[in-house]
Amino acid sequence: MIVARTRAELVQARRELEKKVGVVMTMGALHAGHVSLLRAARAESDHVIMTLFVNPLQFGPNEDLATYPRTWAEDLAIAEREGVDVLFAPTEAEMYPGGPPAVRVNPGPVGEILEGASRPGFFHGVLTVVLKLLHLTRADASFFGEKDFQQLTMIRAMVRDLDLDVDIVGVPTVREPDGLALSSRNSYLSAEERVTALALSRALAAAAAVGGQGAGVALAAAGAVFDGTPGARPDYVVVTAPDLGPAPEHGPARMLMAARVGTTRLIDNAPLTL
Ligand code: PAF
Repeated sequence: MIVARTRAELVQARRELEKKVGVVMTMGALHAGHVSLLRAARAESDHVIMTLFVNPLQFGPNEDLATYPRTWAEDLAIAEREGVDVLFAPTEAEMYPGGPPAVRVNPGPVGEILEGASRPGFFHGVLTVVLKLLHLTRADASFFGEKDFQQLTMIRAMVRDLDLDVDIVGVPTVREPDGLALSSRNSYLSAEERVTALALSRALAAAAAVGGQGAGVALAAAGAVFDGTPGARPDYVVVTAPDLGPAPEHGPARMLMAARVGTTRLIDNAPLTL
């Protein structure tokens, strides 16, 4: 018999009761970025659960819930090919049987900046559905892309602050050969906008190249790329600490940005050293 005297011991004992379950949460429209999450989960877990749910709670009234790409047949084929053991694809009524939930996770102050400032209520919606899916799957590990860096940071904070028994694994962003970060929303871009959208990854590269000269110089380098690409309108471009706190004078940092190209809003981020 195991006697657990600390929370950590209890958590460990619970885990040894069954084989390791990894979960990959998605909203479908799967691309190579999702495939890399599924492969990371497969490599580190005995069983893989994938969830597919376009969560209405995280879409604002003027956002793209109705038009969000839905590619069920392709998604099913990818899940099968990648060895997913259980695919959980609930309806909205199944996830929210009482209608939109009255009780939601409060993301705290970091949930109000960057994506949270542009998209009020977004992180309440994300964290609420992630918490529900963690409970439903009872996963030991959950895999999220660094592409949504603020989301990954907020999920780690929720796990820490609410004592959730799950490992959160961040998986590097997958990019097209020309640098464009993969996103289900890239399917909205015309051929011309697809070229304009390269401003984001080029701005990140320009900033990283001069990071050693400080955050101000890095921001100016990113700004110059956007100034030279009139079709890409930045929403925000910031340098922060790796945990989204204030940028340090020197050392590891993160640049995060959002920009509109036509009617499509894209986000990207990358590490840089100041
Ligand atoms: O990153 C996403 O696709 C979504 O925000 C998530 C984590 C599946 C929650 O709906």
